[in-house]
Amino acid sequence: MSERHLLLAEAARPRRARAADAPQLARLMAAAFAADPVIDWIARQGPQRPHGLLRFFHDLLAMRAIPLGEVWTTVSGGAVVVWLPPGSTPGSTLASGGLAEQLRLLVVFLRLCGIPRLLRGQAVAEAMERHHPYGPHYHLAFIAVAPRLQGLGLGSALLEATLARIDETGSAAYLQNSNPRNTRLYERAGFASRGNIAPRHAPPLLSMWREGRTRLAGYDSSSLSQ
Ligand SMILES: CC(C)(COP(=O)(O)OP(=O)(O)OC[C@H]1O[C@@H](n2cnc3c(N)ncnc32)[C@H](O)[C@@H]1OP(=O)(O)O)[C@@H](O)C(=O)NCCC(=O)NCCS
Repeated sequence: MSERHLLLAEAARPRRARAADAPQLARLMAAAFAADPVIDWIARQGPQRPHGLLRFFHDLLAMRAIPLGEVWTTVSGGAVVVWLPPGSTPGSTLASGGLAEQLRLLVVFLRLCGIPRLLRGQAVAEAMERHHPYGPHYHLAFIAVAPRLQGLGLGSALLEATLARIDETGSAAYLQNSNPRNTRLYERAGFASRGNIAPRHAPPLLSMWREGRTRLAGYDSSSLSQ
C-alpha cells in the first residue's frame, strides 16, 4: 500500500482527540492556517505572529474544543477536524458571556491579533456570531491538513467520516468558509452557500449550511474509533 493510501485509510477512520493532543494539533493548525485569507487579515503582524497563531489554536483546542468531545484526528496526526456539537454556544465574541469568559476570550484574541488588529478580530467574531444559525446543528469550527499533505484527499476523507457520524444523529451542519479555494470541497460534502458574512473590508467569509440527513437503515458509524 502506498503512503497516500495508508494516510487516506487513517483519515477515513479517525480517532477522537485527547487533551494531550492539543500542542501537536495546534502546531498543525497554525501551519495550515498561516496562509488563510481571514486569519491573515486578523492576525498580528511581525515576529510574534507564528507564536500568536500557535497559542490561539492551542487555547481554543485545550480550553474549549477538545473537552466538548468532537475533535477528530488521524492516527499519525496529519489532519484534524474541530466540530462543536449542538448546544455549545458560539462563544466567539468579546461582547457576550460573563466577565471571566470575556477576559479569557480577550486574552485568546489578543494573542492572535495583538492590539493593532484586535478590532478586526472582534469584527470577524461578531459577524460570525450575528449570522450564526438558530436550531440544533454541528458547527465545523476548523479543518486542517498538514501543508505537505494537502490535496491528497485527507481533508475530504476526514470530513466524510465525521459527517457520516453526524448523519446518524440526523443533525444539520454549519461552517464559515474562510477561503474561497475550499468552496468546492464543502459543496462536494453537501454544504450550500448562504452568502458572505464578512465585515467591511475583510476577505470573504462564506456561511455554509448542510441539512440533516435521514439515517440510512443498517448504517453504523464503526469507521470512527472511539
Ligand atoms: C482545506 C483542507 C482541510 C482540505 O484538505 P485537503 O486534504 O487538502 O483537501 P482534499 O485533497 O481532500 O480535497 C481537495 C479540495 O480541497 C480544497 N483545497 C483547499 N486548499 C487546498 C490545497 N492547498 N491543496 C489542494 N486542495 C485544497 C479544494 O476545494 C480542493 O478541491 P479542488 O481540487 O476541486 O479545487 C486543507 O487544504 C487545509 O488544511 N487548508 C488550509 C486550512 C484551511 O483552509 N482550512 C479550512 C478553512 S475554512
